[in-house]
Amino acid sequence: MKILAIETSCDETSISVLECSGRFSGRNFEILSNIVLSQVDIHKSFGGVVPNLARREHQKNLVSILIHTLTEAELLKFKVKSLQLKFTIKNLQLKKILERETELSEQLSDFLNKYSAPKIDLIAVTNGPGLEPALWVGVNFARALSYAWQISVLGVNHLEGHIFSVLLKQNKKNFQFPALALVVSGGHTELVLMKEWLDYKIIGSVLDDAVGEAFDKAARILGLGYPGGPEISKKASTWECDSQVKLPRPMINSKDFNFSFSGLKTAVLYLVQNLKKSGKWSEELISQIAYEFQEAVLDVLVSKSLKAAEKYNIKSFILCGGVSANKELRKRLTREINKKFDKKVNFLMPELEFSGDNAAMIAAAAYLNYLNLKAKGKTPKIAPNIYANGNLNF
Ligand code: KG4
Ligand code: ZN
Repeated sequence: MKILAIETSCDETSISVLECSGRFSGRNFEILSNIVLSQVDIHKSFGGVVPNLARREHQKNLVSILIHTLTEAELLKFKVKSLQLKFTIKNLQLKKILERETELSEQLSDFLNKYSAPKIDLIAVTNGPGLEPALWVGVNFARALSYAWQISVLGVNHLEGHIFSVLLKQNKKNFQFPALALVVSGGHTELVLMKEWLDYKIIGSVLDDAVGEAFDKAARILGLGYPGGPEISKKASTWECDSQVKLPRPMINSKDFNFSFSGLKTAVLYLVQNLKKSGKWSEELISQIAYEFQEAVLDVLVSKSLKAAEKYNIKSFILCGGVSANKELRKRLTREINKKFDKKVNFLMPELEFSGDNAAMIAAAAYLNYLNLKAKGKTPKIAPNIYANGNLNF
């Protein structure tokens, strides 16, 4: 079956079409198209994502991304002339669904008058967690398409998307249970235990700043660009020896699997202020602090992941989310997990192109949820009430 997925939870506008088949273990995903438009240049000057700007940009770009995605998937077809402009009755309902997204509503009406419904079987949309104003645009757009095309739509959890991003190009990979996922992104730092497909238990989470947020804030203190993760890791790679500056490893010895990174960011702030005050500030120190900051974060993430993996006797380990693009983190976790479990644990992580936010991972998660619904005798509906929820849980 073909699934068209929409992702607008943060500052990436993305639409993808996946051809999905098979059951859970034998599933097969073929990516027919995955278009991602990043808004990073727009938010850069603010040092972080501005929710209402993100919302405006999603509205502006969704229809052209849809055209692009459907074209690439070879699913875009012009309507025959006689069927054009017959959309007026349905438009009233469409206008209602998109009453808060007027610009998007106009663009969508034009689109629907010009092109016929594509041959897809299901629409999927991220409905949380994320920035609520941004999420709503995607949700309302998906409901409008569902209504206009008469195709069912399913809301998908963004974190489930990140977890299944590891399966996008790895159809043959074993996903055995219990599985443990370390989800690290701009808004999340979670250790999630899965005893079965779609069965999630959060065994550890962050008490304050998420790890990506900590990278972004530390980068700002060091005068580096946004987003901070790639900037810090670039600087860190220019430092080869042990760092002479020292930063704390917050909660590394706590008995639970929770995390805290806000104190680490504050430690960077005080360190930089003191070094500047005493006249010892230098370019080289930026590399050294970036290196030590990354080491501190990685020490905590790796140590807690290993402890949790051992406690729950896992068979698969999943590293995912935007921060999983970090090369050092990928290298160290792979090495340590393989060492500890003598290569008996499957280690899965997304290809770099799928580590950040994208709609392909949302389609993959939607497919698995669809299989689950079907097994229970349920089916997704056409334009149901889907609510965007910034704090959506599993
Ligand atoms: O998953 P994602 O694209 O968006 C959210 O769902 O939050 O994650 C974005 C986060 C940003 O905070 C960014 O700084 C971080 O991922 N990030 C990295 C790296 N690349 C992106 N953090 C550390 N190292 C990287 N190489
Ligand atoms: Zn994300």
